[in-house]
Amino acid sequence: MVSSPRIVPDSSAPLRLAIAGLGTVGAGTIRLLQEHGEQITARCGRPVEIAAVCARDRTRDRGCDLSGIPWFDDPVTMAREASVDVVVELIGGTDGPARDTVEVALAAGRSVVTANKALVALHGLDLAHAAEQAGVHLAYEAAVAGGIPIIKALREGLAANGVRRVFGVLNGTCNYILTTMQETGRGFDDVLSEAQRLGYAESDPSFDVDGIDTAHKLAILTSVAFGRPVDFSAVSIEGIRRIDAMDIAFADQLGYRIKLLGIAEETEHGVMQRVHPCLVPKDGAIASVDGVYNGVVIECDHAGRSMLEGRGAGAGPTASAVVADIMDLAAGRAAPTFGVPIKRLTHSPSAPIETLVGACYVRLMVVDKPGVFAEIAAALRDAQVSMESILQRGHDPGETVPVVMTLHATVEAAAMRALARIGSIDAVVEPPCLIRIEDV
Ligand SMILES: NC(=O)c1ccc[n+]([C@@H]2O[C@H](COP(=O)([O-])OP(=O)(O)OC[C@H]3O[C@@H](n4cnc5c(N)ncnc54)[C@H](OP(=O)(O)O)[C@@H]3O)[C@@H](O)[C@H]2O)c1
Repeated sequence: MVSSPRIVPDSSAPLRLAIAGLGTVGAGTIRLLQEHGEQITARCGRPVEIAAVCARDRTRDRGCDLSGIPWFDDPVTMAREASVDVVVELIGGTDGPARDTVEVALAAGRSVVTANKALVALHGLDLAHAAEQAGVHLAYEAAVAGGIPIIKALREGLAANGVRRVFGVLNGTCNYILTTMQETGRGFDDVLSEAQRLGYAESDPSFDVDGIDTAHKLAILTSVAFGRPVDFSAVSIEGIRRIDAMDIAFADQLGYRIKLLGIAEETEHGVMQRVHPCLVPKDGAIASVDGVYNGVVIECDHAGRSMLEGRGAGAGPTASAVVADIMDLAAGRAAPTFGVPIKRLTHSPSAPIETLVGACYVRLMVVDKPGVFAEIAAALRDAQVSMESILQRGHDPGETVPVVMTLHATVEAAAMRALARIGSIDAVVEPPCLIRIEDV
């Protein structure tokens, strides 16, 4: 039985916050709370008060008014000792001070609001347990797709539905890189460097471009959408480093755009969670989610298909989601962490990626010489994979040329068998580049 929240709705006493982390999101959250204080009070029926803050550097200008707010140097001490109702964790990181702060806050009977997708994806179930035991709440709208209220849409607006599939563009850095490659014809490394200069990519971009960040968000979405324990280890993950400018051009020729998607769907083998680049039809809604924008599609049994698009990061959008969670707590509207109490989460199986059935785009770099196409065809035939179309750019005997095939819907394991054999052909000079074609 979940005990009721400690926060009393309609209390006229302010909801008291301790904010840990005053970087992009923390300072943005304070600015928003200060700028819209009256509206927030009116909508919650009580004021929200910043009663304590914490960051490492007391001297840094945060671009917001911190005068008169008690400062703590240690977030864990603040979470334990400050006289507050809610701790807002905006430090980041899966372990260390962020996790310690959240655990201590929950154990001390304070609700927690966080934007930390890595923490929720990796430790969400334990933290949800701790929140339930303490009779408080853990809220994380800002952790998935920034300003887009996707958690609320799934947990509340579409709560009466069975979700069949949820998918989307969940990482603005990758989407910026792929969009810019599409628009300019430039290569991945060149565009990544530009994204780093513009502040859209970290100096170590691996979390973004290798798909980890998308996978964190997908694991959380899957839990809320399908009522399952959050399980990051079940996500099959592939990033965008192998996408070449020529793949973008070939995809265009075939009527597609390339997007990094996170996809969670019900299959006959269980719920499958996967993150990988996809060819999506040019005229579909997801293809038009460009630049740093995020877009999420939810397909439900009764409501059908809904799509939300918006800014997935940045101070304003992320603070918007953080403050929405704070307002829910102030108004007494909080829900169980993953939409249902932990004992009601279902433990249905996770479907392995090998059981995926779908069409594929495959690019090979092939030395143009007699007999090589017969070998490729034999590899496909023996794996029972059927080719739909083939494109070749350039015919220079002895030269290496790109060859693109599209394959009819096939089981992933069979496609992998065929590609392993094709990759071992002498004339095929690089591992084949496979991109799935998604009907979205
Ligand atoms: N930025 C976005 O657009 C965005 C979007 C969605 C979600 N998020 C998530 O939001 C969280 C915060 O991101 P951010 O971009 O705001 O990070 P950030 O700008 O790097 O800010 C982190 C803050 O944490 C403080 N901090 C770090 N270690 C600390 C410690 N040991 N004790 C006290 N304070 C400490 C830093 O203090 P100092 O300032 O003194 O160094 C800084 O104020 C992360 O979980 C991130 O994944 C961010």
